[in-house]
Amino acid sequence: MTLDIARIRQDFPILNREVRPGVKVVYLDSTATSQKPLAVIEAMNDFYHRFNANIHRGVHTLAEEATAMYEQARVKIAKFINARNPHEIIYTRNTTESINLVAYTWARANLKSGDLVILTEMEHHSNLVPWHMLAAERGVQLEFIPVTENGLLDLETYKSLLARTPKLVSFTHMSNVLGTINPAAEIIKLAHDAGAITVVDGAQSVPHLKVDVHALDADFYAFSAHKMCGPTGIGALYGKSALLDAMPPFLGGGDMIKEVKLRSFRPNTVPAKFEAGTPAIAESVGFGAAVDYLTGIGMDKVAAHEHEITEYALERLEEIPGVKVFGPSADKKGGVASFTFDGVHPHDVAQILDRDGIAVRAGHHCAQPLHEKFGIPATTRASFYLYSTKDEVDKLVEGIYKVKKVFG
Ligand code: ALA
Repeated sequence: MTLDIARIRQDFPILNREVRPGVKVVYLDSTATSQKPLAVIEAMNDFYHRFNANIHRGVHTLAEEATAMYEQARVKIAKFINARNPHEIIYTRNTTESINLVAYTWARANLKSGDLVILTEMEHHSNLVPWHMLAAERGVQLEFIPVTENGLLDLETYKSLLARTPKLVSFTHMSNVLGTINPAAEIIKLAHDAGAITVVDGAQSVPHLKVDVHALDADFYAFSAHKMCGPTGIGALYGKSALLDAMPPFLGGGDMIKEVKLRSFRPNTVPAKFEAGTPAIAESVGFGAAVDYLTGIGMDKVAAHEHEITEYALERLEEIPGVKVFGPSADKKGGVASFTFDGVHPHDVAQILDRDGIAVRAGHHCAQPLHEKFGIPATTRASFYLYSTKDEVDKLVEGIYKVKKVFG
């Protein structure tokens, strides 16, 4: 059964917004951040209206209720990605912090000079820079799985890199530029066979696909709430219990300790060990509400709808003379269409589209090396989610024809 998009759109009040009188927003920037349904907004409002207190610190009723809500959201998130134990979910600020957590703890405890880390050419800066920093500090070697002309990972080269016995393979499940959905299970299996640990950047995949970390056998899996109908300021790191238990803590401070002396401390158990300081409590409640919302709709349906919209968008965009869309065909990608247009700078394209309320992102989308690979400084990116419509794609196409008029 397909989704009732008209009904779903009613859940997202911002989609009725006029960005200027008479110009309704056409939101095609969900890869940057998704819009939030009323259920999430109201869950957070309700938390502040009725439950607000700090967690894990008080015995009073509000503190106990807030703690229970924070932990219940963790249970929901674990279930959503099929983690076996809620303690395998660490709250972080976002995907970036999740990957940095692995780089600062597991990697610094386990990697030494000369050890090999394999990344890919399609990584977001958040899965490049932490490893650059580690390479500079430790002399860790970095190698990259190349991206083919049609936006797929070159798995033959990956296999030859694995012969060099890497310690870690860290890759994106779904590219934020090309939309490519990488064969995560296969990449992980090959890494494990070579004796490497895996980190998956799931910032784009968890919001759009049914992700099962257990079936994937991922060691670490990072994602953010704000791209999956939840609030900004909170994300998660899934990690296998045995790895998390053995890792040193990340940030030091309150809640991550069992005991502190003037000259020493004993860390807390997982997950508190990695959650120093007062966390994003209302946001955890919003995160849980977002998971409930998406679960209620069904991730299979979300993915199927996005596939339909993406297929339509690629078809319509490719019929415009001068438009070049990057990445694989719709069957191999999620709801992302990044394109160049006849020498017009993507910022100009985005600005002209904005006149009609069409919100797209222009630039390198925090994936500069990928753009360099394709010999371009930037692209214009339209991205879709469960509330996107074919009518919005048509508006985008009309808008691009207007750009053509402006630039002759
Ligand atoms: N990673 C986000 C994007 O691709 C911000 O736009």
